[in-house]
Amino acid sequence: MNRVEFIYLSQEDILELNVPMRKVIDLVELGLSEHGHGRVENPPKPGIHSKPDAFIHAMPAYYRRLGIGGLKWVSGYPSNRALGLPQIAGLMVVNSMETGVPLAVMDCRWITAVRTAAVSAITAKYCAKRGTESLGVVGCGVQGRMTLTAFKEVLPALKTVRVYDVSREAMDRYKADFERLGVEITVCDSVRSAVDGMDMILTATQRLPEPLVKNEWFKPGCLGFGLEASRAWYGDTILGANKFITDSWDQTIHFHEQGAFPDGLPKLYAELGEIVAGKKRGRHSQEERILAINIGLALEDVIVANHVYELVKDRGDVRRLTLMEEDF
Ligand SMILES: NC(=O)c1ccc[n+]([C@@H]2O[C@H](COP(=O)([O-])OP(=O)(O)OC[C@H]3O[C@@H](n4cnc5c(N)ncnc54)[C@H](O)[C@@H]3O)[C@@H](O)[C@H]2O)c1
Repeated sequence: MNRVEFIYLSQEDILELNVPMRKVIDLVELGLSEHGHGRVENPPKPGIHSKPDAFIHAMPAYYRRLGIGGLKWVSGYPSNRALGLPQIAGLMVVNSMETGVPLAVMDCRWITAVRTAAVSAITAKYCAKRGTESLGVVGCGVQGRMTLTAFKEVLPALKTVRVYDVSREAMDRYKADFERLGVEITVCDSVRSAVDGMDMILTATQRLPEPLVKNEWFKPGCLGFGLEASRAWYGDTILGANKFITDSWDQTIHFHEQGAFPDGLPKLYAELGEIVAGKKRGRHSQEERILAINIGLALEDVIVANHVYELVKDRGDVRRLTLMEEDF
């Protein structure tokens, strides 16, 4: 038997590679297109739940045409913050699609953060109204930050950003860190003042006692994003959108069965992959209000993880761990 070994990459190992956001967007866009063409095996994510507000999900995906496959095993524990631990943590495994053996095991937190931002940017590329230049952000944490970087890649004309967060420090850090992107950032004192009338609205908060975004603030032409699986948007806002888009309708239904979309599921206009694959058009008019609630698909993680593996696989200075050496 041949020895089996795999590459191990920590979060810091991955960060050192400096993979540009533009590259992540291109990879995820290819992945969504493959999905839209029906060429990806991406089963619904099973999970275990050791606390009422927490999960650990298994997320496998296989790209038939590209020959790429792997798994994310990711936990989300909001109470970790108090313990000095990240809310999102876990592992990616990249497997050989010829032999099945693991080729690499790596941190999944950075990949989760950038691929989610990339999905929003791709949604904006296809669905934002012409001339989009303003964005309202509610929640200035990891996603609020990453997504602005990704939006700037696809919407270079974006110049006005209004932000609100329950943490003043998070808003101040956001402004200090991101004006270098060439946008003017205004720190706001309410959700309304951050989002009302903006060309795009992004909510990237945590579990909420009640929704945040009211229907009257979601103006004609606006493209909205809810990263909390519907919880930040009032039911009439969700149901009143002209188009509802998601990266996974199966997962949306599953989330609904678990309590998301308490006022009812909106009618699906299209999965994001169908739009990227050219099967459906993103936006038809400058007046449409489009809401995207992308849930997060394994295929978005796996294609980025595979790229990370490709970048290091021939290097002599990466950690290789032995899985097995001999028959027993
Ligand atoms: N759809 C996906 O694929 C996907 C992927 C990753 C994360 N997410 C979700 O995105 C959301 C944000 O994740 P994150 O990693 O950025 O979390 P984070 O903890 O880094 O940031 C959340 C921010 O929201 C702020 N916040 C909390 N409640 C608020 C409120 N009521 N009003 C305004 N601000 C509020 C917090 O102060 C914090 O700054 C989470 O709900 C997470 O589950 C979705």
